Formats: sequence, C-alpha cells, structure tokens
Amino acid sequence: MKTIEITIPVEVYTPDDPMLSESDRSLIEEAKIAARDSYAPYSKFHVGAALRLEGDIVVRGSNQENAVYPVGCCAERTALYYAGATYPDKAVNTIAIAVWREADGLFLAQPASPCGVCRQHLVETEQRFKQPIRVILYGTECIYVINSAAALLPLTFTGEEL
Ligand code: THU
Repeated sequence: MKTIEITIPVEVYTPDDPMLSESDRSLIEEAKIAARDSYAPYSKFHVGAALRLEGDIVVRGSNQENAVYPVGCCAERTALYYAGATYPDKAVNTIAIAVWREADGLFLAQPASPCGVCRQHLVETEQRFKQPIRVILYGTECIYVINSAAALLPLTFTGEEL
C-alpha cells in the first residue's frame, strides 16, 4: 500500500491586488450583478456566476430555486447551460462566482466553492473544448483563482470507461 496526496494550487488575491487583471475584475462585477438576479426564496443565498467565453462574450447565470428543492439549479450550471445553448461553439475561458447572503445583506467575505455537480459539469466543459477553465471565487476579503476546474475535482469520472 502507498498513499498519494493530491494538492491543488490556489492563487490568493486581496480585492485591491494590482496583480488581478481588469478582465478578471470585470468578470467578478458581472458575477455580482448575476447574484442580484438570482431566485433564492428558500435558501436566501444568492449565487451569481459569470462566464467569459472565447471572443470575450460574457454570459451570466444565477441560482434558480424551486419549492421542490432538488429541482432548483445552481448559478454555475445555469450559466453553463445558457452558454451551451446559445454559444455552442465557444469555449469557456473563465468563470467567476460571487455570493450575496440575504441574512446580512453582504457578499460573502470568504469565497464559496462550486458544488460537486457543478464541478463535474465544469470539467466536462473543459474536456469538450480541450482547454482549461479558470475559476475565480470572489470574497470581499480575498479572492481565489484556480487555473483549471479539473483541479477542483481530483479523480474525476470522465466517462472514458463508458
Ligand atoms: N448554490 C449555487 O448556486 N452554487 C453552488 O455551487 C452551491 C450552491 C445554490 C444552490 C441553492 O440555490 C443555494 O445555493 C443554497 O445551496
């Protein structure tokens, strides 16, 4: 027996970090706008996602809940499904995610991570377009950047064995 350890590189920025590009900053703003459009009467946890597609096209999505809870959809997949349906030939370069919580009326101080289902969809989108998706997780105190969605889902089920 041996043990392998899987670690992932996460870049950590402060919101005013000059190393954060204007393009990434504007995508974060789009994610914040998307959170405003979320439908989250049950969790009151308003998630916004913004995708930058090939050709600098920006697409937004937000969580859309339902009284039958599992019927709801996360912000990340709302954005990915919209992009897939509207721009099927455009690769996804970057996703930014921001969360606004009704309880305190603030964006989260620490970044929130995409759920497992959304990670699975992000990884397949990477494989579909054969290029990594940069993942930007926004918090008011710090911002994480992960250079590939695959890093967020080690030992992914890829479907190759199907
Ligand atoms: N949610 C997202 O939109 N993205 C995630 O990655 C995690 C959770 C939504 C689903 C639900 O509407 C609310 O946040 C609480 O789980």
